[in-house]
Amino acid sequence: MSQGQYIPSSESRIALDTRDHAVVVESALARLDLDAKTRLLAGQDVWSLPALPEIGLESLVMSDGPVGVRGRAWNAADPALTLPSPTALAATWDTRLARRTGRVLAQEARRKGVHLLLAPTVNLHRSPLGGRHFEAYSEDPLLTARIGGSYVAGVQDGGVGATVKHFVANDAETERFTVDNRVDERTLRELYLAPFEDIIATARPWAIMSAYNRVNGVTMTEHADLQIGVLRGEWNFDGVAVSDWLAARDAVGAITGGLDIAMPGPMTIYGPALAAAVRAGQVAEAHVDNAARRVLLLAARAGLLAGAEPAVPESALPAPIDGRALAREIAARSFVLLRNEGGVLPLDPAPGSIALIGAAAREARILGGGSATVFPEHIVSPLEGLRDALSGSTSLSYERGADPGDGLGVAGADFVLRTVLRDESGSILADEPAQRGGAIRWLADGLPDGADYTNLASVEISGVFTPRRSGAHSFGTKGAGGFRLIVDGVTLLDEVGSPALVDPIDAITGRSVPRGQVELVADRPVRVSLLASAPKLEFGALRGVSFGLTHRDPVVDDEQRLDAAVAAAAAAEVAIVVVSTTEFVESEGFDRTDLRLPGRQDELVRRVAAVNPRTVVVVNSGSPVEMPWRTEVSAILLTWFPGQEAGAALADVLLGVAEPGGRLPTTWPARLADAPVTEVVPDGGVLEYSEGPYIGYRAWQRHDIAPAYPFGHGFGYTEWDYERIESTAGTVRVRVRNVGARAGREIVQVYAASAADDPARPDRWLAGFATADAAPGEAVDVSITLPERTFQRWDEHTGKWATIPGRYELHAGHHSAASELSVTQHI
Ligand code: BGC
Repeated sequence: MSQGQYIPSSESRIALDTRDHAVVVESALARLDLDAKTRLLAGQDVWSLPALPEIGLESLVMSDGPVGVRGRAWNAADPALTLPSPTALAATWDTRLARRTGRVLAQEARRKGVHLLLAPTVNLHRSPLGGRHFEAYSEDPLLTARIGGSYVAGVQDGGVGATVKHFVANDAETERFTVDNRVDERTLRELYLAPFEDIIATARPWAIMSAYNRVNGVTMTEHADLQIGVLRGEWNFDGVAVSDWLAARDAVGAITGGLDIAMPGPMTIYGPALAAAVRAGQVAEAHVDNAARRVLLLAARAGLLAGAEPAVPESALPAPIDGRALAREIAARSFVLLRNEGGVLPLDPAPGSIALIGAAAREARILGGGSATVFPEHIVSPLEGLRDALSGSTSLSYERGADPGDGLGVAGADFVLRTVLRDESGSILADEPAQRGGAIRWLADGLPDGADYTNLASVEISGVFTPRRSGAHSFGTKGAGGFRLIVDGVTLLDEVGSPALVDPIDAITGRSVPRGQVELVADRPVRVSLLASAPKLEFGALRGVSFGLTHRDPVVDDEQRLDAAVAAAAAAEVAIVVVSTTEFVESEGFDRTDLRLPGRQDELVRRVAAVNPRTVVVVNSGSPVEMPWRTEVSAILLTWFPGQEAGAALADVLLGVAEPGGRLPTTWPARLADAPVTEVVPDGGVLEYSEGPYIGYRAWQRHDIAPAYPFGHGFGYTEWDYERIESTAGTVRVRVRNVGARAGREIVQVYAASAADDPARPDRWLAGFATADAAPGEAVDVSITLPERTFQRWDEHTGKWATIPGRYELHAGHHSAASELSVTQHI
């Protein structure tokens, strides 16, 4: 896409149905001076915009997203209804359920005083290595658009704004603040922009979030071609563009590039800096006006601007939704049954004995890491869920088996610590008991004892640790600084002279890095010290200190645990093994380097399967993992990150109260090496999307190697016959019959293929889908209207969509590689 002319007139357009707001907005705008307008465009703190009482404007509050509404606090003091991960929601292929999901989140947002939800994430599954894969829906733009659009509509039904993010091509985490993703225009249009375009046309989101990365050389917060030319000019987007947190770096570049709001605050590139740029003649005030107009419109929609009727008046709000019940329903609908040899599932009637195995069976991994983290009001683990659901006639044993991770937590109860702040000469600026265990998080103007940030040169956390257990204790660090870590006289790390580069968001929210182990004796206190030289975390407008000392008790010998698990499995009629990833594997801030299950979990599954022919493996991960044992077990059930009702939904599905309703929204490779796109690490700051439009199943179709499970795959508890297909005027009608013994749901998928064997197009692509619910023996007709785009391509010569005439085959079936029925369509 060329860096074309920016046309201001397309910017100031306000859509027709917001005409009522236009008068109020214009009159409010006219009463604001330059300083007030520029203040309105920046966070007053991390999550909110300032109130301007002089025009009757209240403060607008934003919050992540997407599986719950975290609220302003980043801790468990303010719990949130926690729904299944976005991969799970997409696995339902159920737009009505996605809409109800949005509605329940609006209800949560209103409860917490949040006006703009920072979700959904509609970037694509370009590679299974993407750290935020779990947080995006799918490898297919149509499925992403349909689920994302319904979610947006649901949130906004509840009078809360949705923010479609991250615009655009933010599909991996490595060097995410600076990476230049080079994507050809056709690929950008047909894949990465497509969900944004569709959602803007169908659901009219109130906001989009500008991504951290660059696209074809221009950083997204300043990308006038995409943010003004495409978003507003071509698509008539009338919402706000808010920066990703800390993504906006240059006031003039951002305001002329179409960015309306720079988050977070209070230190910001907008506000006074933007006003100064206008006064210095570096930028026309009209740009500020355009952005302020859109922010006022957003406030009007949310009911925060005096005189403006909110988009959804109180009387029109949807009926209250039971959040827990919905969380359980989505989870069960999302579980994907990949394998079910001999119909081992459902366990109906329940067997006499079940051996439940796995760390995640007791500590369920219910969500992925990073800004998507919310704090659940409660968690039902698989162990609790099964215990509650099983009657006394089934005996349920539990064994941990193998630990999935080596996670270190912030140094806590067994530590007595102080923090000492020093200047360059070593003089003490402040010295006080550590307030939050081993975790430090201060903004520049909030240092202990009012210590001066400018003079700060080092921070030391030091004190005494009294181990409760003898053995090898692990210690680590998190956050930003050049660290020296000493435990009981042993120096585990010394990088005082050469601080490592860190991702600032990861430094604040992210993982801890293990730094080594020290043998310690129970009840014998030892000294610990973590010194952070160069402790200042400075990025854009953010200035502060964020790091921590982390620790983990000695690990109980895995061998004994494995043996105990195998013995329990051998003694039970059915073995259920829950395997999982950890927060060190799937999170914002970093990409994955492999797809293996951490720890000795593969070995655990194999050993259990060897002694119990009825072994069911439950895979608790947000995105693909390798399952080298997949043909050795009876059943494989993917549960994604299932949200707070994890165990209740799992019991429903295992025992046959609910059907596993999910179908893969992403192709599941057998091995990472087989995956078509494995490059997520930029080379010299540049990441070439050299595969063009061939990601996911579009790429696997041209590959010699087959995936473990294709896009769209998943079994229910019944069977279906595809009886009839017909197509007229872009609508495909398919009749399916439930020929099994249980009621169930089929997701009828329609894929289009060009009969002309066009080498420039994928073999087939998803054109539409629908759900069919039927009782045993019952037939159902579904009608699927295919979007115009099914038969179009982006024409790089004209810079327009072009309909490609000719003969197309429309295949209906239950996954991307199946064709139960097909019909020809002439265009
Ligand atoms: C993430 C966004 C999120 C924001 C605020 C960023 O690091 O990329 O998705 O909304 O933080 O938490």
